[in-house]
Amino acid sequence: MTNSMEIKPASGKLGVLLPGLGAVSTTFIAGVEAVKAGIGKPIGSLTQMGTLRLGKRNEQRDSKIKDFVPLYDLENLVFGGWDIFAEYPDCYSAAVNAGVLEQTLLDQLKEPLSEIKSMPAVFNQKYVKNLNPTRIKDVTSHRDAIDALRTDIRNFKEVNNLERAVMVWCGSTETFQAPDSNIFEDLSSFEKALDDNNPSILPSVLYAYAALHEGVPYANGAPNLSADFPAMYELSHKLKVPIAGKDFKTGQTLMKTILAPGLKARMLGIEGWFSTNILGNRDGEVLDDPESFKTKEVSKLGVLEQILKPEENPDLYGDLYHKVRINYYPPRGDDKEGWDNIDIRGWLNYPMQIKIDFLCKDSILAAPIVLDLALFMDLAARSGKYGIQEWLSFYFKSPTCKPDLYPLHDLFVQKNKLENTLRDLMGEDLITNLGLDYYDE
Ligand SMILES: NC(=O)c1ccc[n+]([C@@H]2O[C@H](COP(=O)([O-])OP(=O)(O)OC[C@H]3O[C@@H](n4cnc5c(N)ncnc54)[C@H](O)[C@@H]3O)[C@@H](O)[C@H]2O)c1
Repeated sequence: MTNSMEIKPASGKLGVLLPGLGAVSTTFIAGVEAVKAGIGKPIGSLTQMGTLRLGKRNEQRDSKIKDFVPLYDLENLVFGGWDIFAEYPDCYSAAVNAGVLEQTLLDQLKEPLSEIKSMPAVFNQKYVKNLNPTRIKDVTSHRDAIDALRTDIRNFKEVNNLERAVMVWCGSTETFQAPDSNIFEDLSSFEKALDDNNPSILPSVLYAYAALHEGVPYANGAPNLSADFPAMYELSHKLKVPIAGKDFKTGQTLMKTILAPGLKARMLGIEGWFSTNILGNRDGEVLDDPESFKTKEVSKLGVLEQILKPEENPDLYGDLYHKVRINYYPPRGDDKEGWDNIDIRGWLNYPMQIKIDFLCKDSILAAPIVLDLALFMDLAARSGKYGIQEWLSFYFKSPTCKPDLYPLHDLFVQKNKLENTLRDLMGEDLITNLGLDYYDE
């Protein structure tokens, strides 16, 4: 929802607050520092490298996105975050521990990374069973936890002299929590549940609540519930702060949302899609707990159903068998290997197969998403947008949208929506690709 098309300038500095200083966050921060130092390129980031078309094809007005919309420069980003480990109190030690980037690169960035200290987290091991915290906040109630997080946010802004801030959840995947209890349905029930210390309210929800109350846009990079329930939508409207989620779309699901729309466009049938991964980082360790895996599984499974719409195409997708597995396999660290076997059907129902073996680096794929989300969420706030930012579905496996809508998963539909939103913000014509007027005599 837009209040006004007037966009506040990207003045001063923007704080990027990250609950969870693990593999993704540290790869993101180190990457930005590397780009600033001229020793790396922001590959994978739409805000830094993307272009978009403006106007008619014969006008040749294509622009870099960052020249078209007013975004903060990398030079004006300031990073902060929370984590549960006293052993890795700053971004440098956490990045070394994550083991994603080469030590030689991290050593070149040691100075700025060491200055970024993590704050003690709000954490409850009940919801992330496979991690043993060594430094968390000493709070006894949800309200105390929220107050402590709000104080952290305010101090962070003050100490760093920040004009604005955004928060992107990069913490571990918490155990599955369906938004089916009535405490999530509306804001007054939810606030009462906060007062009562209701155990269904997970730490990531408290971070989201604290952020919104500080006027800080909140995006969720994990599949946890966090900000994805009606009471939080209501709060984001009441306080006029943007929210977005959830679960960064990186490896296998990225491939799925590229390939499935293509197969469907050609009316090729799909009988089965079996996806399995091996992953050895801490995220893999957390997902080894069946209750955390369940959160991820739900996030990953919805994608094909929405793209293929089996009910509209029973001959092509009526019997679709979709399976997703994640296996924790420590030797691979962050170098995930994802296999897909796709059983497809062609003319006269003749069977064929597609195999994908994606040897990817999980955090390398996620880092540019964190950057884009931080910059675009702030742009949304400066443009007077609030509530669910569905135009950022492009970045998520399980995009949050209004409850009476279905999410858009097709990567190209998502990209079109994102680009048209930027055009709309800047008062440019939307691009429909109808193009009839080119042929008018
Ligand atoms: N890397 C990807 O491709 C990708 C894709 C989609 C989603 N994700 C999600 O992003 C999140 C981060 O992934 P990662 O690889 O960096 O994992 P990670 O385990 O390396 O980092 C997560 C960090 O969060 C911390 N943490 C857990 N609970 C916390 C809390 N309540 N407050 C503060 N810190 C907390 C952990 O201590 C850990 O350091 C995970 O939830 C993951 O599922 C990652």
